[in-house]
Amino acid sequence: MNAEVRALFPGADEQPYFDISANSLMAAPVREAIERHLGGRTSGRGDKTEMVATVDRARSSFASLIGAAPDEVAITKNVSDGLNLFGASLAWRAGDNVVLCPALEHPNNIYLWYSLARTHGIEVRSVAPEDGHIPVGATAAAMDERTRLVTLPTITFAPGFVTDVAAISAAARKVGALTLVDAAQSIGAQHTDVDGLGVDALAVAAQKALLSVYGFGFLYVRREVAETMTPVHVARFGIELDAHETAYSDDELRFRAGALRFDVGNYNYLGAAATDAALDLLSAWGVERVEKHVRGLAADLASRLLDLGLPVVGGRPGPDLAHIVSVGESGGGRHYTADDPAMNSLYEHLTAAGIRLAIRTGMLRFSIGVYNDQNDIDHVVEAAQAWCARTRYGQADTEEAP
Ligand SMILES: Cc1ncc(COP(=O)(O)O)c(C=O)c1O
Repeated sequence: MNAEVRALFPGADEQPYFDISANSLMAAPVREAIERHLGGRTSGRGDKTEMVATVDRARSSFASLIGAAPDEVAITKNVSDGLNLFGASLAWRAGDNVVLCPALEHPNNIYLWYSLARTHGIEVRSVAPEDGHIPVGATAAAMDERTRLVTLPTITFAPGFVTDVAAISAAARKVGALTLVDAAQSIGAQHTDVDGLGVDALAVAAQKALLSVYGFGFLYVRREVAETMTPVHVARFGIELDAHETAYSDDELRFRAGALRFDVGNYNYLGAAATDAALDLLSAWGVERVEKHVRGLAADLASRLLDLGLPVVGGRPGPDLAHIVSVGESGGGRHYTADDPAMNSLYEHLTAAGIRLAIRTGMLRFSIGVYNDQNDIDHVVEAAQAWCARTRYGQADTEEAP
């Protein structure tokens, strides 16, 4: 990506920003779309039909981004809204099971399954991670004829490795189970083709590599699967209204085609305006180009931090390295903490040097966006090098850390 793309993100020159896995810097065209929306609301000239059209434009752009049809995409608030809508709308039978790897799931793809276990008598089958990865073999081995669903992140929130979704969805199909992915970390940072991945449903929110705001998201559901489902929430945008606003009798109550049945009432129109503009940017650049850029920078960062003797999770860059580089011990802390004092000291040092990064489950997480460039990487490496020199990190007499 070039300097022109970076120039669209005013925040990129404020600090080396390595936190797209929490939320992206906002691009000026996205902010302008929000301001146009607010202008319409402030003046009273905003047109509701145009707002709904913007929602449908964002839906269509998202559908083409992931290789789906627009009627396979519902509008949601966030990832957990999509996961819950899908999970709660499945016709569970007591004794069915769902397979997942809780240690590498974001908490928002864990709680709902235990809640469904209480309300529907399903079994939650946990698989242990292997070297920071969702294991294909163990996940496949946990499935049986009572498995209704396997759920997994396309890229974990930390350490951030790419999951072999296609292999796991193929194993799921063999036992007649569905595959639901949490694509919070991958959409906009990694080329996504739902058919190639073999997934039946996918949930995402807009504030990370989709470059938009909090409070807006999408739920993809393969048409054949959606058509068998009864949405747990029902309201007018999910109902076939045949051009009139009423459907008050049982025969008139028909769900809209495919995933459109999961839409409910009024949308987050501001979020739709922002997301529509962000999707225009992504489509102009091409996600493959974005992916190449962010992966290239991530590989460089990972190698150079390793050369300094820092514990980069996963070691030398391999095909599982996406746009997230994690340093520390996977699982060595709670969601927002690291137990290792050395990692906390390094985090404070980098933050004091003006670098924006995150701590997740025992690791320092550097997540790279389309706006990052080689200077940003150099900045982190130089600051990390200064910290290693000051603390004599890794040298025998200072093993206990600074
Ligand atoms: C993998 C993953 N899933 C889900 C979320 C967030 O879920 P929600 O959008 O429901 O807040 C995040 C990060 O915020 C995440 O990294």
